[in-house]
Amino acid sequence: MRVLVSGGAGFIGSHTVVQLVAAGHDVVVVDSFANAKPSVVARIEALTGQPLELHAFDLTDRDKTEQLFADEPVDAVIHFAGFKAVGESVEQPLAYYENNLGTTFSLLRAMQRHGVGTLVFSSSATVYGADAPVPMREDLPTSATNPYGWTKVMQEQVFRDVAATDPRMRIALLRYFNPVGAHPSGTMGEDPAGIPNNLMPYIAQVAVGLRERLGVFGDDYPTPDGTGVRDYIHVEDLAAGHIAALHRLTQVEDPVSVWNLGTGQGTSVLELLHAFERACGRELPYEVLPRRAGDIAESYADPTRAHNELGWRATRSIDDMCADTWRWQSQNPQGYPE
Ligand code: UD1
Repeated sequence: MRVLVSGGAGFIGSHTVVQLVAAGHDVVVVDSFANAKPSVVARIEALTGQPLELHAFDLTDRDKTEQLFADEPVDAVIHFAGFKAVGESVEQPLAYYENNLGTTFSLLRAMQRHGVGTLVFSSSATVYGADAPVPMREDLPTSATNPYGWTKVMQEQVFRDVAATDPRMRIALLRYFNPVGAHPSGTMGEDPAGIPNNLMPYIAQVAVGLRERLGVFGDDYPTPDGTGVRDYIHVEDLAAGHIAALHRLTQVEDPVSVWNLGTGQGTSVLELLHAFERACGRELPYEVLPRRAGDIAESYADPTRAHNELGWRATRSIDDMCADTWRWQSQNPQGYPE
């Protein structure tokens, strides 16, 4: 297939692009570089051994999106592009709604005009809201606790409504749990701008000495060690899930398919910290801080549907995730070069 990958320069996008090429697909990347450094492109090309076809613009620009589809016929779209920082979304809700919904509107318009019906979308376990029982199943009701989360709930709804009226559409909503890890080569990984919001990149920056100590957001949750429990999934497993979903969409009857991408295993903040200590070979300092507003005690997937329908499952362990993150962070302490 010839696949358009939006946000293909980002953390999950870049790993998926490398696997798509390895699986024999032609890839066209569109990325605004709002939250990615251009030097990732050379890293992708080094791993694939071929030049990357790249279009650097913002998909909220409908004319440019239309022109891209006119110039580059594609068979399918994987839509990663989007803003994803929860705290920032509370401060700048309109920017989040405009960007995350705007890119989706432009893409859907261009897809319909050019007869492209296959789309894999980056959704999130955040759509299960605040009070969902664990393990989380795809048939739970959706809701959100912040504008970022609402953009995912709303985009899912837009896809459902459009697919219901257009018989050409086959859309996968992939609900990611907590993506971490890095390419095993150590040449690609997560490179957050500024102070990391998420746990794994924060730990990795403590390990290379960029941050003094980890702040653990609460140790009085109703969990075995009192710290928050999440379902961390290796980005290479997550990327493989996209390719499995893309292939599956060529066979399904339903216009919309929803698949959780997680391991089904919960890991606490302190368990992840200790696993990282094993990977980097030293103790890492931490202090317990108050709970972070909006956090839940436990989130982990029921991944049964993806096992059964995609023939996919996550194979990499927490130790693999930490070892690969450490290789990336220690070889690239400041992330990608400017
Ligand atoms: C967060 C978002 C989620 C989003 C996802 C995207 C919130 C409330 N949720 O998920 O909507 O889809 O990122 O990547 O922001 N922790 C610490 N110290 C830190 C950072 C995190 O103790 O410095 C703890 C958190 O309290 C939580 C766990 O580590 O228990 C994981 O946090 P994080 O990596 O931010 O992911 P989520 O909160 O699950």
